[in-house]
Amino acid sequence: MSAAVPVFPLQGVRCQVRPWLPADLPSLVRHANNPEVAAQLRDVFPHPYTVADGRAFIEYAAGGMPPTALAVVVDGEVCGGTGVIPGRGNERKTAEIGYWLGETYWGRGIAPEALALTTRYAVETFDVVRLEAFVIASNTRSCRVLEKAGYLREGVRRKSFLKHGVVHDQYCYAWVTP
Ligand SMILES: CC(C)(COP(=O)(O)OP(=O)(O)OC[C@H]1O[C@@H](n2cnc3c(N)ncnc32)[C@H](O)[C@@H]1OP(=O)(O)O)[C@@H](O)C(=O)NCCC(=O)NCCS
Repeated sequence: MSAAVPVFPLQGVRCQVRPWLPADLPSLVRHANNPEVAAQLRDVFPHPYTVADGRAFIEYAAGGMPPTALAVVVDGEVCGGTGVIPGRGNERKTAEIGYWLGETYWGRGIAPEALALTTRYAVETFDVVRLEAFVIASNTRSCRVLEKAGYLREGVRRKSFLKHGVVHDQYCYAWVTP
């Protein structure tokens, strides 16, 4: 499965991206326990986000080898996460990618950099040629993140996402290798 041995941390200018550690638990819960973050994500990202949720997530993340769930670190503190879901069968050259950031860190260009680092990691590690992301159509911040990281909007998945009892359209964005 793996095409290269990853070297961590993935180093950017604004942030680092690296595997989750047990010591990240308090920071994870502090930043993840926010309805504004959870509102844009699948229900597997709970709200409220408890210490038990965080512990279970870090245990899950540690099980991926190479890791598919990564922590975003700014000034030594974990403040968000990125994730890669490699496809299977005929879609094994595609992976889905996702990300979130604690609200106090928004607006500093951190997520586009974390996304670009994770995109390169996914290509090198999982031997994929396409990364795709699905965004609730009203989530303009996330659309900008994808565009700044070089993803192209390919289309609309109409009425594809149910969140809190409301059906949303999602945009499909993708990045492909040259
Ligand atoms: C989406 C998210 C990752 C953005 O991360 P970020 O590091 O703040 O991204 P950026 O700093 O590059 O800002 C992205 C855009 O948000 C907008 N934005 C930033 N700060 C803003 C603010 N204070 N008020 C309004 N809009 C703001 C801007 O339009 C910016 O684009 P621009 O640089 O072209 O002006 C973050 O808001 C988040 O985690 N949201 C909840 C989870 C989520 O949506 N995940 C993605 C699911 S697909």
